[in-house]
Amino acid sequence: MSSVEVPREQWATRIGFIFAAVGSAVGLGNIWRFPFQVGQEGGAAFLVMYLMFIVAVGFPAMLVEFVVGRYTERNPVGALREIGSGAWRYVGWIFVATGFVILSYYSVVAGWTIRYTILGLQDGYIADAGEAEAQFVTLASGLDAIALHAVFMLAVIVIVGAGIKRGIELAVKVMVPAIILITIGLAIYAATLEGASEAYAYYLAPEWSVIAANWTSILPAAAGQAFFTLSLGMGVMITYASYLGENRNLAEDGAIVIGFDTAIAFVTGLIVFPVLFTAGVDPADPGAGAIFVSLAAAFGDLTLGWLIGAVFFGTVAIAALSSAISLMEVVVSYVVDERDVNRPTAAVVVGGGLFVLGIPSAYDLVLLDLFDLFADQILLVLGGLLLVVLVSWFLSDLAIAELERGIGDLGWYGSAWIWLARTLVVLVLIVALVLGILDYVEFLTGPFSEWLADL
Ligand code: PHE
Repeated sequence: MSSVEVPREQWATRIGFIFAAVGSAVGLGNIWRFPFQVGQEGGAAFLVMYLMFIVAVGFPAMLVEFVVGRYTERNPVGALREIGSGAWRYVGWIFVATGFVILSYYSVVAGWTIRYTILGLQDGYIADAGEAEAQFVTLASGLDAIALHAVFMLAVIVIVGAGIKRGIELAVKVMVPAIILITIGLAIYAATLEGASEAYAYYLAPEWSVIAANWTSILPAAAGQAFFTLSLGMGVMITYASYLGENRNLAEDGAIVIGFDTAIAFVTGLIVFPVLFTAGVDPADPGAGAIFVSLAAAFGDLTLGWLIGAVFFGTVAIAALSSAISLMEVVVSYVVDERDVNRPTAAVVVGGGLFVLGIPSAYDLVLLDLFDLFADQILLVLGGLLLVVLVSWFLSDLAIAELERGIGDLGWYGSAWIWLARTLVVLVLIVALVLGILDYVEFLTGPFSEWLADL
């Protein structure tokens, strides 16, 4: 029972909100997942599809989350309870659950990036691919991984516990400019490498025949990546927009956030591929650990590679942190709004729970996959799909009116946005969900049951 109502916090500045949203969007998805997806899905062909999805699916979906957040000024659970009726009222729970699951293993992978930063500074990287792989296997699971998962979680707790203005906003105002500057710096360095021109050709010149031959696999991968990298489908953008007081132009803010996120992912490719080509490492090597193994091995091959590598992995760690705080904020905002718990306590309790839930992922890579595939390909897509259906089909007047607050009459742009959401976005998400479920069943009956049998 709180007798004194504490007013809900708000961002102090416009740039604070934009940096927070950019910080959330730019993360492991850009610097770790994006390059290996490009590598796996055939270089420039994937890049072209991905850019199309960002514009045609990501942008309308982001605006949906923004209007829901600003309209309700609530955490995702409260927001859906306010705008939804019947079973729709419970959709917000999917977001909180997704945030909880994703952050549990995201923090483990973030721990690896800290480990690889230290590795460069302490011993340098191993150039031999086989040895680099063996080293990754030792570092990625076990006590090392659990300890660094704890360190990372602690940093997230401190920032989120400190609040919107004094915690998240302050942190992103330092982290986001640092990520942008260092990424540009590394790309300039990479341009001087011997393998640069070969890498650019691979990355930038799409072979249309590759798209034509592989579109069934490129399509869902590109759609999933677009959703993940923009932090959509789990209420982050609802939560962040709920701290917006003024009548801002949400379309403009969304375009800025998407522009930065895409630019950072693109520039990361200009770093990663020249490094890989110069060291003679195949960019098509698949797998989640690929970027750690192949990049570390490539850094091991370059002059001053230990330093460049440490700067690179350190930047990835910072980017992961600025994303992790947004994931935690979804859960914490729910606890603070609805459970009458103060913010620091909420951050510690949620963070403690996340640490425990992440231990299996830090213990075995198969368990990390178990969580990752479920959250990423099923929960995230399902939550995003339900929200887009609810808002675009049942609440379109409310959505357009909210978007117009701060812009003025949208004219036919408003209907274009709603129709894009109703049709293309919904279709793409349904296809992605079906493929995601099939993929998960394959994983459960394949690698996961083999793992169980070996216990
Ligand atoms: N967008 C983040 C990234 O690219 C990941 C993320 C997904 C963060 C969902 C928050 C919510 O790494």
